[in-house]
Amino acid sequence: GKDPLVIFTPSGRRGHVAPGTPVLTAARQLGVDLDSVCGGRGICSRCQITPAYGEFPKHGITVHDDALSEWNAVEQRYEDKRGLKPGRRLGCQAQVMGDVVIDVPPESQVHRQVVRKRAEARDIVMNPAVRLYYVEVAEPDMAHPSGDFERLRSALAEQWDLPGVHIDLPVLSDMQPILRKGEWKVTCAVHLGDAAAPPRIMRIWPGFHEDRIFGLAVDIGSTTIAAHLCDLQSGEVVASSGMMNPQIRFGEDLMSRVSYGMLNKGGAGEMTAALREGLNALFTEVAREGGAETDHILDAVFVCNPVIHHLFLGIDPVELGQAPFALASAGAMNLMARDLDLTVLPPAARVYVLPCIAGHVGADAAAVTLSEAPDKSEDLVLLVDVGTNAEIQLGNRTRVLACSSPTGPAFEGAQISSGQRAAPGAIERVEIDPATKEPRFKVIGCDLWSDDPGFAAATRASGITGICGSGIIEIIAEMRAAGIVDASGLIGSAEQTGSSRCFLDGRTHSYLVWDDSAQGGPRITVTNRDIRAIQMAKAALFSGARLLMDRFGVDRVDRIVLAGAFGAHISPKHAMILGMIPDAPLDKVTSAGNAAGTGARIALLNRDARAEIERTVHEIHKVETAVEPRFQEHFVNASAIPNAVEAFPELA
Ligand code: FES
Repeated sequence: GKDPLVIFTPSGRRGHVAPGTPVLTAARQLGVDLDSVCGGRGICSRCQITPAYGEFPKHGITVHDDALSEWNAVEQRYEDKRGLKPGRRLGCQAQVMGDVVIDVPPESQVHRQVVRKRAEARDIVMNPAVRLYYVEVAEPDMAHPSGDFERLRSALAEQWDLPGVHIDLPVLSDMQPILRKGEWKVTCAVHLGDAAAPPRIMRIWPGFHEDRIFGLAVDIGSTTIAAHLCDLQSGEVVASSGMMNPQIRFGEDLMSRVSYGMLNKGGAGEMTAALREGLNALFTEVAREGGAETDHILDAVFVCNPVIHHLFLGIDPVELGQAPFALASAGAMNLMARDLDLTVLPPAARVYVLPCIAGHVGADAAAVTLSEAPDKSEDLVLLVDVGTNAEIQLGNRTRVLACSSPTGPAFEGAQISSGQRAAPGAIERVEIDPATKEPRFKVIGCDLWSDDPGFAAATRASGITGICGSGIIEIIAEMRAAGIVDASGLIGSAEQTGSSRCFLDGRTHSYLVWDDSAQGGPRITVTNRDIRAIQMAKAALFSGARLLMDRFGVDRVDRIVLAGAFGAHISPKHAMILGMIPDAPLDKVTSAGNAAGTGARIALLNRDARAEIERTVHEIHKVETAVEPRFQEHFVNASAIPNAVEAFPELA
């Protein structure tokens, strides 16, 4: 009669196949995504499927008990040794004998969807650049002499339709004993390459490689570095780890690092070496946490700002210290771990660095673009990555503009008299009673407010040590809202404000937040200089955003996304009271968390995303704030709190 009908779920693909066709082959024929590492030899179990039996009126078929072939010896051997879950079959062994409905579970799909984390704006579908292939290689034959690699290459071409693979010397030099140890059966990790580069063998293991392989998504910030270890088959984040950027000892902010390189012979090289050494330590740590061998980390994606980008690659960033801010190259980088002294990774492990946008809008901004996709947004979105250099993007699907604005380190608590990094004991939330001008606050590491009973006991261990960046923004905004600070940023006297917390401190007034000096603890105040520093930083941020709005020809944006670790902690209301961000409905101001890190992870897990961002960065129009006269004008207006000319109706 007729050939049996096969219907695959969840794809819905269907078609007739010859009786006796293995399910894996049927899937291939019908374009269904069904994984296989062993090439149908019953070894890897990646091809598991679940047949469904019974009546399917929707499809107009009945699936009988004998729709798939009986278990053969290979499948039985797998079941005896490893066991299959109830109802599961090996797709490469079970053959289609009659009409059948076959479900492909997520773990059997190569292009499976990665479980989404809360803050992530888009789905991640697996399509990693590195894959495993099990092959059986022909043995050498004196009658037909050929190299072992050439026979391995033919095996990959014939068994996997992967022609023309290349091999690098460090891999080649280890290859021969591995082929013999595996008795001519080996697993290869292959980097699939792209239009510009052929596929390459990165690692070879004797026999079938049981262990997982991993990739790293790394966000190198000026202050901190975060590394996420991901399983390259499931996409799961296996471990995350962070460290301070060891370059801090050469300069807190980027420009001081650039000048360190200019003033000290070999200075840029020292900073490069310090960073790479730190990365090696971090990768060892994150692998240990994830229970992985660093040896199994085969791909790594990096995002960073342009100065760090250059220092990471071993390029002196001197040109980025002055106009016209020329990058050595804005293009994406495809490199080997050994090119960058990442010695804890296998020498052939790959490194991909996202492209930069232009000038000081770097690969970290490109990663934010990839993660938040302003270029695909229907509504007009303002994306702000707050750091020592704010990277700002404004756009929708018609176009995207970007700029960077030198906010300086004030938002990180630097330059602030009682400022400190976010750590236990740092004040992070503040409310000031407008009637009494009395503050109440919360510190990191404690859930109680300072006027709750038990606060003193709960904070005894950490103490109350200072104010972190988000705390500074809140306290200044609250001081403004309570009338302690005027629009120009001046703190009033005790008489003017009616609060004894305001006191003369040199020639200006300060506001006392917390006094523990009687117990030998700190005296935490907000000084007029602190307010000045925040005014400068927030004015830079706002003016950058406003300049992009001018260029776009709009007075309002539909929504605002705050990216970066700091962005995640800022209260939108306080940012708006300060005039740090333009007016927008408060519920349209959201945090994207570490969007740059998410972008790195997307590029790690999906090679098409790399091609996508390489195209997208060309379409982003970079606006240079340094040469725009209107930037100065906006800056002056934005120095007032909230602003000398702009209105914030959403706060009313
Ligand atoms: Fe490897 Fe079926 S494809 S076990």
